[in-house]
Amino acid sequence: MRYEELGKTGIRVSKIGLGTWQFGASYWGWGKELDEETAISIIREGFKLGVNFIDTAEVYGWGESERIVGKALKQLDREEIVLATKILPIRITSSGIIRALRGSLRRLGTSYIDLYQIHWPNPLFPLRKAMRTLEREIEEGRIRAIGVSNFPLKLMEEARSYLSRHDIASNQVEYNLLKRDAEEIVHYCQKEGITVIAYSPLAQGLLTGKYGPKKMPRGIQRRTTLWLKYGKIDWSLVDGLRKAAAKIGITPAQMALAWVIRERGVIAIPGAKSLDHLRENVKAADIELEGNQMRP
Ligand SMILES: NC(=O)c1ccc[n+]([C@@H]2O[C@H](COP(=O)([O-])OP(=O)(O)OC[C@H]3O[C@@H](n4cnc5c(N)ncnc54)[C@H](OP(=O)(O)O)[C@@H]3O)[C@@H](O)[C@H]2O)c1
Repeated sequence: MRYEELGKTGIRVSKIGLGTWQFGASYWGWGKELDEETAISIIREGFKLGVNFIDTAEVYGWGESERIVGKALKQLDREEIVLATKILPIRITSSGIIRALRGSLRRLGTSYIDLYQIHWPNPLFPLRKAMRTLEREIEEGRIRAIGVSNFPLKLMEEARSYLSRHDIASNQVEYNLLKRDAEEIVHYCQKEGITVIAYSPLAQGLLTGKYGPKKMPRGIQRRTTLWLKYGKIDWSLVDGLRKAAAKIGITPAQMALAWVIRERGVIAIPGAKSLDHLRENVKAADIELEGNQMRP
């Protein structure tokens, strides 16, 4: 496993972390395709393999994901884990933050969160107040770092301008071979010492090679989301990825992840529904791609 500093916090995070939206969410077939026991074993095995960064959110499974992560944490050394969660954008007022944070701490069974992120921007609430409240939470020891998610560049700059004693540690954005809009943010963050946390690094499974135009993921909700996100999917890219990966003896998922984390300052948080997924994905951290290896 390779590690990097999270922003300028001095906190060390694995290049491949673990996304846990899958835990508790019907969207991902919770209770049918995976259950609590599997979820806990994924977190524990991930830790054994060097994954020290776990990402969750209060909204995932309406608290179930945080509860499950909390349960798994009891069997691990809390201090060895970098725990990240997110607050719903409808709660980013001062009192909303205080309430949401206490709720997350309770479900996670911990006294502090390493990275507390605003899940999405919300133009209805003043960002200045939210940032100042979060800064106070750092000083009171309930969080160690502030992160944002889905923030465009201008809003990141605005959020940073309201912080006087700390900086934003990270921006969590969608970034994968099929969706590269975040590259402007990646460049900005690299220059400013802010970590980019790439979500959906496998394009919700499309880049694993197991799907195609005639074999799409199950579930109407998932198909609709993929259609809204990716429109007409570029299957020729997926096919090229499959061939390029085979050429160097790795899987498409590993190549897709290795591509996302190829540069300093970017980590990825693939979700996993089985131990096999996890083990395959973790290996991507040790793959360093050369430029021409991405060509089929
Ligand atoms: N900040 C945000 O707004 C935001 C938004 C989305 C996600 N996230 C975070 O990012 C994490 C990851 O993103 P994501 O869950 O959207 O998508 P992803 O990581 O791109 O894809 C995960 C899915 O791909 C499939 N998969 C994973 N590894 C595989 C492997 N080795 N072989 C075959 N299939 C594999 C599994 O689904 P199937 O087996 O069903 O195909 C798995 O659920 C989430 O868990 C969450 O923590 C954040």
